[in-house]
Amino acid sequence: MLSFNTNEDFTQNYKFLIGSILPRPIAVVTTKNDNGTDNIAPFSFFNGFSAKPMIVGFAPIRRPNTGDKKDTLINIEREKEFVINFVTEKNADLINLCATELPYGESELTLSGLTAVESEKVKAIRLQESPIHFECKLRDIISYGDTPGAGTLITGEVIRIHIDESIYENGRVITSQWHPMGRGAGNDWFKTDSVVEKTRLTKAQIQK
Ligand SMILES: Cc1cc2nc3c(=O)[nH]c(=O)nc-3n(C[C@H](O)[C@H](O)[C@H](O)COP(=O)(O)O)c2cc1C
Repeated sequence: MLSFNTNEDFTQNYKFLIGSILPRPIAVVTTKNDNGTDNIAPFSFFNGFSAKPMIVGFAPIRRPNTGDKKDTLINIEREKEFVINFVTEKNADLINLCATELPYGESELTLSGLTAVESEKVKAIRLQESPIHFECKLRDIISYGDTPGAGTLITGEVIRIHIDESIYENGRVITSQWHPMGRGAGNDWFKTDSVVEKTRLTKAQIQK
């Protein structure tokens, strides 16, 4: 086995993160820019952390060359709210376009051709092409520094959920029906159409 210390230069650490934590779920975060336009960006340092309160979190990292904050972080610091949309096999190409680093205030909505839907509790829009939307109010911003590659963990409380009726039955999301995609290393993405089921031992089975 090869062994490494974590490195002063963030790129090696970053490559270990994106090559080891796989596949990563993707949050497509929508926020309002200060000129009223809509910002859209995908983030794969993303997960859920609490069911009640319902908390999700994701992490923009500081820009590689300048250490500047990403637009999503700037918007959430000001507006204190955002929406999480999700990636499907159908919308993935349009979402990928939203990772383009446009000048602040220019909208990825125009660039991608995605469709805006008004939210009910927050100003940030939802994306019609996403089958699930989480409207979120900011809970925490935890900064790990301001140098290139430093992450900022943003958590939000989900205060309103929207889901396409075709993928919701008997109180469950039918995961096989909405074809979510995950992120790999580099430009790799994962499809999720190869599912295996594993049942867990019950307490009674262990005590036999
Ligand atoms: C699928 C995917 C996942 C990404 N995940 C992250 C991430 O977790 N953190 C990050 O800082 N950038 C990530 N990026 C890059 C950002 O989306 C990109 O820098 C974007 O322009 C940031 O937009 P903003 O400046 O409008 O916030 C990802 C890109 C793609 C395509």
